[in-house]
Amino acid sequence: MSANSPIADELMLGTAMWGWTVDKARAFQLLDAWYAAGQRKVDTATNYPIDRNPAHFRLAERFLAEWIIANGVSDLRVNIKVGSLNNLHTPDHLLTRSFLLMMLDEYSYLFGDNLHTYMVHWDNRDDEKQIEETFQAFEEVAARGIQPGLSGIRHPGIYASLNSSFKFDFDIQLKHNVIQSDVPRYAAHFSGRCFYAYGINAGGLKLREAYDEKSSIKARGADPGKFAGKLQRIREVIAQANQNKNRPPLNAMHQVGLIHATYHPQMKGVLVGPSKPAQLESTLDFFRSLRQCDYRDVFEELVNLNKN
Ligand SMILES: NC(=O)c1ccc[n+]([C@@H]2O[C@H](COP(=O)([O-])OP(=O)(O)OC[C@H]3O[C@@H](n4cnc5c(N)ncnc54)[C@H](OP(=O)(O)O)[C@@H]3O)[C@@H](O)[C@H]2O)c1
Repeated sequence: MSANSPIADELMLGTAMWGWTVDKARAFQLLDAWYAAGQRKVDTATNYPIDRNPAHFRLAERFLAEWIIANGVSDLRVNIKVGSLNNLHTPDHLLTRSFLLMMLDEYSYLFGDNLHTYMVHWDNRDDEKQIEETFQAFEEVAARGIQPGLSGIRHPGIYASLNSSFKFDFDIQLKHNVIQSDVPRYAAHFSGRCFYAYGINAGGLKLREAYDEKSSIKARGADPGKFAGKLQRIREVIAQANQNKNRPPLNAMHQVGLIHATYHPQMKGVLVGPSKPAQLESTLDFFRSLRQCDYRDVFEELVNLNKN
């Protein structure tokens, strides 16, 4: 991203629902459209989809690898998150140096030149010595020209403290939406623009559209009804913002999520999880609008929603 950019200017295509609510044909359509739009960053993880079906373990990365081979592509920028040992949503993970290096070889083979970032995915450990072993693996990751990263870290303070001697330039994924944000937990330890926001639609919340059984939020087992009060307040912010006729009007949750994430001063990029090509196009359309129009007033109102 450019140093002077006032807002985060990177997007990354998420794959968490591939093999779950998004089948292989649809995943291929999403990748076709993403690539055709000039976008190159794609995020995946060993345990996607986390649908608790063991037969689906590593299915999302398989779709991605198949698309890469089918299209002969070598300029994607794939972010792989590693460490999980199953897709059952359990905290079982392995982050020893030897396992991380084995998986590094595995993903270097699977994604070739497309492999860009290698992230630890979920770490509940509080033992500094064990975490230091993970840093030793990161030394090899960085030596191979691959970007090291973090995601789902329970004790970011330990990582930050060890990093005062290792000095990795970590990319860090964290949940950040109008309902819930992990930014404060990480910002206490990491400064600068190093964060990538995920869950900007709070896992598939809608401002207007109805849900069905294939809806992402339902598949994930959340109850959208719990957020009715917050959604009503978001609608009020939007109604107020839409009185400004000099920019495209707001009417959807992904627009709210993109404003809320991109304007955050520590956000480097945003993970988006469209499940259909039309959603992908509307996401890219609004991302373009963000570069042409000023929505900072809306960002400030959304931040205020969480203060009151
Ligand atoms: N680091 C981590 O631990 C972590 C955790 C979670 C996610 N991630 C990454 O971040 C990516 C995105 O996360 P997420 O899936 O939680 O994101 P999200 O944006 O909160 O939810 C995605 C859902 O929002 C709806 N949606 C997205 N774009 C839309 C649009 N333009 N219009 C209407 N609805 C839209 C879709 O729901 P419907 O299908 O119901 O329409 C979609 O499945 C994941 O795929 C994954 O790669 C990382």
